[in-house]
Amino acid sequence: MKGVILAGGTGSRLFPLTKVTNKHLLPVYDKPMIYYPLECMAKAGIEEVLLVTGGNNSGDFIRLLGNGHEFGFKNLNYTYQDGAGGIAQALGLAERFADGDSICLILGDNILEYSIRESVKRFRHQGQGAKILLSKVENPKAYGVAEMDGERVVRIVEKPKEPKSNMAVIGIYFYDSKVFEIVKTLKPSARNELEITDVNNAYIDRGEMTADPVNGFWADAGENIDFYLKACNAIAQNGANKETA
Ligand code: G1P
Repeated sequence: MKGVILAGGTGSRLFPLTKVTNKHLLPVYDKPMIYYPLECMAKAGIEEVLLVTGGNNSGDFIRLLGNGHEFGFKNLNYTYQDGAGGIAQALGLAERFADGDSICLILGDNILEYSIRESVKRFRHQGQGAKILLSKVENPKAYGVAEMDGERVVRIVEKPKEPKSNMAVIGIYFYDSKVFEIVKTLKPSARNELEITDVNNAYIDRGEMTADPVNGFWADAGENIDFYLKACNAIAQNGANKETA
């Protein structure tokens, strides 16, 4: 399995903190935000990672992270997303890097209290299709929301006006190599982006989607300034990417 981390975007929801730098370079407690998804990959045993940046300051990632050996990666690769075409468009840039392997995709502002090692194991065992991770939230309207039938996800709605559950689809996803064919079939959404939720619904339609609940806290540190502050405090108190007891 290979890892893809998305660290582009304009960071407009954290303006003016992001006026002169990329959101993922901002500090979260004692480290730059991008360290958390990188450590998440490393602790899950993923050794080859592609970082997709975009916009200004993309060169700063190389200065900060270099070849990724500090994290224990065999290789840290970089690519660049032109414009803001959405998460699924950025993922499409990873096709040659993936080279037929399955991938773990992490949005660079998503931080978990506990390691994803167990979900990686389960997805390897699953063999094909996709897996998403779900976290109970108080503000589901801000996320992709899972419509559930027992433990099964039957539909995901992106930022629903009337959420059918309080289970948010977090920004950590597992896909088999079919994902790149699915991305090529997508049409831009109302916000003119290729939506990761459309990719996930395509797997649900094929009956190839599984979901794991997240243990401990999940922080979407880039959502807005209050969530950013909450993420900093939660990590200061509890740490991040810990091994489950
Ligand atoms: C994106 C996804 C959404 C997901 C969220 C998690 O939202 O589109 O489905 O729940 O990340 O962080 P965005 O950050 O683009 O608003």
